[in-house]
Amino acid sequence: MRIAILSRMPRSYSTRRLRQACVDRGHQVQVLDTLRFSIMVEKDEPELFYRHRRIPAYDAVIPRIGASITFFGVAVVRQFEQMGVYVANESIAITRSRDKLRAMQILSRHDIGMPPTMFVRDKDEILPAIRRVGGVPVIIKVLEGTQGVGVILAETEKVAEAIIQTLHSAKQNVLIQKFVKESEGCDIRALVVGDRIVAAMRRRAAVGEYRSNVHRGGSIESVTLEQEYQRTALRAAQIMGLNIAGVDMLESSDGPQVMEVNSSPGLEGIENATGIDVADAIIENIENQVLFPEVDLKQRLRLTGGYGIVEFPVHNMPDLEGKPLRETGLADRNIHVMCITRYDSVIPNPRADELIHTGDVLLCFGDLHELRGMMPPRPRRRRKGSKTGKKGPTKK
Ligand SMILES: Nc1ncnc2c1ncn2[C@@H]1O[C@H](COP(=O)(O)OP(=O)(O)O)[C@@H](O)[C@H]1O
Ligand SMILES: [Mg+2]
Repeated sequence: MRIAILSRMPRSYSTRRLRQACVDRGHQVQVLDTLRFSIMVEKDEPELFYRHRRIPAYDAVIPRIGASITFFGVAVVRQFEQMGVYVANESIAITRSRDKLRAMQILSRHDIGMPPTMFVRDKDEILPAIRRVGGVPVIIKVLEGTQGVGVILAETEKVAEAIIQTLHSAKQNVLIQKFVKESEGCDIRALVVGDRIVAAMRRRAAVGEYRSNVHRGGSIESVTLEQEYQRTALRAAQIMGLNIAGVDMLESSDGPQVMEVNSSPGLEGIENATGIDVADAIIENIENQVLFPEVDLKQRLRLTGGYGIVEFPVHNMPDLEGKPLRETGLADRNIHVMCITRYDSVIPNPRADELIHTGDVLLCFGDLHELRGMMPPRPRRRRKGSKTGKKGPTKK
């Protein structure tokens, strides 16, 4: 295969290791400086130039996009996608993970532990937000910080409020997050490649420091992850749509809490801590995936006109409940059930004799008109907080 690694730092540990892994596995590889591309947008023919020349046909691209060049870097990755080249991490997924708030919002709809987090703008909302996440000491985070810069532990409400107001006046967006004390300056980094965790380590903050980033003097050790931590890391990467990801989790008394999901995880720390050849695992995964470049599903489906993918829970649908799939009449209505979610398990491509249960969630592809016709009257949305009477905003 012909593989391109997009990196601004050809001599960095991660880039060198990925390059070597490509060579060792018999591929042709080039490291290309992300900022030296020109993107040409023209009718019917997306193109890329590198140092004034049209690029050759690559089979796969490995993006290593640093935070400082996110916008341009992601545009280059997106251009490769438009040209039908397989990319190891999709541009949209890189964008999602780069913004900590956006990432947490996306994860929060799923069963993924995370530290309670608030995002506010009005100064009168700051104090209530601090209290709502559990009070001081509290963590304040600049939205696009990396390497621990922009993560502040504030001990008192006064100080926290002052810091947040100062950051606001400097036009910085900040998150207010519960300080997970019991993690004691440690966190877990799980390296996900495809659908498995290839390596994991625990990072320990230096004495007198609460941030465990290696750049902040943290130390590292290999760790075997408990099942709950494995599940959380894998799911978080999947939900973000990242094929290669470094998932950071705090060890809270309630189990794993995801802080961030990195789309260009460094290899040096994790390979040194574990002795595992992560670079090789990444290239092996690319070999297996390269036949199937990402498709923009929504874009493609819109082109089919009148067809779409919908997901719905089975409730008040006597045509479906308790019947095997073949007797539901779905096939006759030009509706294909792609997947059934039942409690924690997922049944992909269910067979014709699969029984549909009440409460199953069906993911279907089909004629939208037919699909609309099947739906029971819209139920009133149940508010999650109303269960406990605790979580919802108080009415004024
Ligand atoms: N809510 C929290 N509770 C306790 N420690 C935290 C919390 N959030 C971050 N930390 C510590 O600070 C470090 C950096 O935070 P993180 O959100 O990963 O920012 P960055 O992108 O700068 O690495 C983490 O690795 C962890 O050690
Ligand atoms: Mg981090």
